[in-house]
Amino acid sequence: MKRTLIKQVLTSNAIGEQVKVAGWVRTRRDSKGGFSFVELNDGSSLSSLQVVVPGEIDNYETEVLRVSIGSAVAVEGELVESPGKGQRVEVHATSVVVYGLADPDDYPLQKKRISFEKLREIAHLRPRTNTFGAVARVRNALAFATHRFYQERGFLYLHSPMITSSDAEGAGEMFRVTTIDLAKPPLVEGEVDYARDFFGKPTYLTVSGQLSAETYACALDRVYTFGPTFRAENSNTRRHLAEFWMVEPELAFADLSDNADLAEEYIKFMFEYVLEHCVEDLEFFDKWIEEGLLARINAIASSEFLRITYTEAVRALEKAKTSFEFPVNWGSDLQSEHERYLTEVVFDQPVIVTDYPKDIKAFYMRRNDDGKTVAAMDVLLPGVGEIVGGSQREERHDVLLESIAEKGLPIEDYWWYLDLRRFGTVPHAGFGLGFGRMVQFTTGMQNIRDVIPYPRTPNSADF
Ligand code: 4AD
Ligand code: MG
Repeated sequence: MKRTLIKQVLTSNAIGEQVKVAGWVRTRRDSKGGFSFVELNDGSSLSSLQVVVPGEIDNYETEVLRVSIGSAVAVEGELVESPGKGQRVEVHATSVVVYGLADPDDYPLQKKRISFEKLREIAHLRPRTNTFGAVARVRNALAFATHRFYQERGFLYLHSPMITSSDAEGAGEMFRVTTIDLAKPPLVEGEVDYARDFFGKPTYLTVSGQLSAETYACALDRVYTFGPTFRAENSNTRRHLAEFWMVEPELAFADLSDNADLAEEYIKFMFEYVLEHCVEDLEFFDKWIEEGLLARINAIASSEFLRITYTEAVRALEKAKTSFEFPVNWGSDLQSEHERYLTEVVFDQPVIVTDYPKDIKAFYMRRNDDGKTVAAMDVLLPGVGEIVGGSQREERHDVLLESIAEKGLPIEDYWWYLDLRRFGTVPHAGFGLGFGRMVQFTTGMQNIRDVIPYPRTPNSADF
């Protein structure tokens, strides 16, 4: 018999018909009447299926009575309306196959609640908990919504390279990729000879797919990347990972305001999508993780994002009646505390901050006419702060050359990037959305380490 996912069984109307399900046991309760209730979960939904196992089946005493939380079983039986509270339907088993027991003395996920910190140490088992199952489903839904959003708007999905020789952000936070024997590196004049490394030059894991996305946008009009990116920044915060996924759309014939429109539309689309497809999980997060989450997502999905310039943001922060850890002054970057104060306290809505000082932003951002700022934008959300960073790109060859030189970057590494400005250059713009932060915001999970299966952070790359 073909197996049905528990999610489908729970909404099925095929009362009286035979079904086959399989999953991991959440609880087993034995009744005095010589039968047992088994709650079964296969990850397809937050809800588990109640299975009633009669004492008459062959392996009841030898196997079913040894089943406990974490055991893997398959059940065939009849779908019936449940007389009990808490579920609409249940399955009356006619056979139970026990694939694997889980010794209650060893299995770490017993009924009592374990802290998220502790669960990180058993990251291979945490997807079996309600919270991590729900996070995985929401993350999946957001990824699917991402592809749907861009595909429906004619964007082409681009696979940008993971290994690169150029620093897209110019911030020098890259992990080196090498096959050189670190104990015996080839040397020339006391320095490591990267000409003898695998790629014949120094290479790194990419910090962003943007530069390749620009080359394709300048041929195919609109593209997006969606892949892992890597940053060797030593930030031990609840919103930084060393390996994180980023969505980077890039649009030709577009300016900063088109870019901000796209970011706003995309973020709202994702919220609408999860509100439609993940209600059960979102209700769970609302109840157990962050009260008011559903209302907040609903509000954002239907509200306008406020747009202000960096200069206006600094002015608002200077007036703030709170003391920040980092001082606010025109010219320094906004810290997370400032971003959150703007979006949570001053404006109490999502905010898009534009036109940052050129000295604190990357070389590729388009210089504004004031000579001091660039056409940059950050989207700030309550709770997480910056979720999107983007800009209109510098499309003028001479100005770009100047920026690269000013930032002290090696011009020879960017010859192909400069070529785009020599041959048929166009105004273009794009942004990067931190996918982990999006999942954080949507689930209310406090720490970004708990919204990715296997977090990579300083001093930690287990599993
Ligand atoms: O602002 P960032 O550095 O922008 C770029 O990389 C551009 N090249 C994007 C583009 O224009 N195509 O990063 C984009 C977003 C941030 O807003 C943040 O949400 C997320 O990526 N991000 C991180 N998320 C988790 N851990 C980290 N270490 C992150 N660094 C950035
Ligand atoms: Mg940024």
